Amino acid sequence: MSHQSLLEIKDLRGGYDAGDVLHGIDLAVASGSVTAVLGRNGMGKSSTIRAIMGLLPQSSGEISFDGRDIMALPSHRRARLGIGLVPEARQVFRSLTVREHLTVAARRADGGGWTTDRLMDLFPVLRKRAKAFGNNLSGGEQQLLVIARALSANPSLLLLDEPTEGLAPAIVNEIGVLLRQLRDEADAPAILVVEQNLRFALSVADQAVVLVSGEVAYRGTAAEFGQRVDIQQRLIGVGAA
Ligand SMILES: Nc1ncnc2c1ncn2[C@@H]1O[C@H](COP(=O)(O)OP(=O)(O)OP(=O)(O)O)[C@@H](O)[C@H]1O
Ligand SMILES: [Mg+2]
Repeated sequence: MSHQSLLEIKDLRGGYDAGDVLHGIDLAVASGSVTAVLGRNGMGKSSTIRAIMGLLPQSSGEISFDGRDIMALPSHRRARLGIGLVPEARQVFRSLTVREHLTVAARRADGGGWTTDRLMDLFPVLRKRAKAFGNNLSGGEQQLLVIARALSANPSLLLLDEPTEGLAPAIVNEIGVLLRQLRDEADAPAILVVEQNLRFALSVADQAVVLVSGEVAYRGTAAEFGQRVDIQQRLIGVGAA
């Protein structure tokens, strides 16, 4: 047994037709931990998540997941290994009910893991709205649904891209409460969450990473980063508002 993290990224470079936007990312995520990826617009947060999922052309570097080199694997193979993605656009199906969303993606391991029932215990609002169609859900309900849907595949790493974007403060708080409950479950997946909302990010994360121009400019515990208003201002341009 090695002491390798669940996810290890070394000197990752990659980007789009116009050129690389990730210029040597180093990142490690331990099993069951929550890492917040922060940074101003356009710094490479979504690109990093896409690279982990196999959706960004990578020019060099290493990505290992669960001790295995996944650089050459297409995204569906990475998903099958246990990486779940909740992309920025919520992608709820208009004509499927809440319950149907949670059963179609389910990847059941002997009846264990994140069954529909257990997901509805963790997200009581989804039980209440079980028969509602996707197009009748509020933005907050949609966000909870796509998180629950990703969990239904029993990932060991959950990637969330700006889960609070565009949501009212009360809903943001609710999502924070739910993510902290999730984190406390014995079989919780590791979570990598990209966020613009610093206070929310620090309320759910153990580790904070700040990207500047496709590189890691800061890494530390969320508690440390929460105290470093100077660094917050320099790298993100906000205090913990
Ligand atoms: N599909 C694309 N094609 C070409 N360039 C892109 C594409 N998506 C992003 N970029 C560029 O890559 C860089 C990093 O973008 P990325 O979306 O990863 O940033 P981000 O940190 O997620 O920003 P935001 O906070 O705005 O979501 C930016 O310069 C952006 O313009
Ligand atoms: Mg983004």
